[in-house]
Amino acid sequence: MLLNFADLRASARRRLPRFVFDYLDGAAEDERCLHRNAAALERLHLQPTCLRDTAEVDTAVEVFGARWAAPFGVAPIGLCGLVRPGGDLLMARAAAAAGLPYMLSTASNARLEAVREVAGAAPQWLQLYVMGERGIAEQMVRRARQAGFGALVLTVDVAVSGMRERDVRNGFALPFRPGPAMLLDMLLHPGWAFSMLRHGAPNFVNLTEDGTAGSAASQAAMLARTMDRRLGWESLTWLRRLWAGPLLLKGVLHPEDGRRALKHGIDGLIVSNHGGRQLDAVPASVSALPAVLDAVDGRIPVFVDSGFRRGSDVVKALALGAKGVFVGRPVVFGMAAHGEAGARGALDLFATELQRTMILLGAPRIADIERGHVVRADPHA
Ligand SMILES: Cc1cc2nc3c(=O)[nH]c(=O)nc-3n(C[C@H](O)[C@H](O)[C@H](O)COP(=O)(O)O)c2cc1C
Repeated sequence: MLLNFADLRASARRRLPRFVFDYLDGAAEDERCLHRNAAALERLHLQPTCLRDTAEVDTAVEVFGARWAAPFGVAPIGLCGLVRPGGDLLMARAAAAAGLPYMLSTASNARLEAVREVAGAAPQWLQLYVMGERGIAEQMVRRARQAGFGALVLTVDVAVSGMRERDVRNGFALPFRPGPAMLLDMLLHPGWAFSMLRHGAPNFVNLTEDGTAGSAASQAAMLARTMDRRLGWESLTWLRRLWAGPLLLKGVLHPEDGRRALKHGIDGLIVSNHGGRQLDAVPASVSALPAVLDAVDGRIPVFVDSGFRRGSDVVKALALGAKGVFVGRPVVFGMAAHGEAGARGALDLFATELQRTMILLGAPRIADIERGHVVRADPHA
């Protein structure tokens, strides 16, 4: 039975070879930030208000003119094609069916036009990595505009890849050259292995205009995450010329960057530590959120991700002032275990828990969730 994150994670673990599971589940260095994300959410408690009419609950919100069925969506996950063939499409379909936004990664394995097609009216955003060869980003942004993506999200916390020690230990790197241990691992997971054999290894098909796999160098750069380290605030003018729609930054933790973003005409922020996969020493996203919110002072929407595992976690972020939350691993674990239905199941868990939490909190609409609904746990209690 899939009742919570632990269930989703356990079923994904059963179906996937160890190196794929660790790629999804793992984080940087000692994985302290990964645990800090969960611990910080645990230290925030909800304080209900009683005797409110909660006979009708409405979780919908409007973001950049689009309706979201609830204030959460799917965070961008690279290399979903290694989890299941067409993994990006499975997640995008699940999100669209739930009326929730889906953010497609630059490191995706399905063409962005095809991903857009499965969404219908549901909102989709494109996450952008800018590699040394800027033409790669330029053609992606142009295609995203033509395909009708609702927002562009520049990830700013991957100037270099975090040190994921599990990946190193497992020998998971590009070019992909499985050693004997990895081959055995694959054979022990025949469901996964046969589907990969049938469909072939995933490629980063969005790096070129025509969908060919792209140069070996750009493919390797993508997996090694060798980004353009010269990218600075002034580069945003370059992006602005290519993209007139909502432009967000993902991976902001410092309040000063919130103020800079306002000055540079950024339309929204995602406070994130990349699910603990980049700098292990950073604070939990939910701990960094209040200062960033103060810095932007309500002038642009602020979203948050990293470690959100329950509908009640979403409510905690909303009570602090976030416009919405993005979830990564819960959805990709669901997809790993049961394809589109599994991803949908993960999103439904969040939606049901969100509703139940709102009723128990005495806040039938999202706008009723207030700052006073969240309190910091007394560390001495
Ligand atoms: C396997 C994996 C791949 C990811 N790939 C990307 C990516 O391509 N681009 C990006 O901006 N963030 C990426 N992220 C970070 C997520 O978008 C998000 O910030 C993080 O997963 C949220 O934390 P959660 O998984 O605890 O919900 C990835 C995360 C995981 C777990």
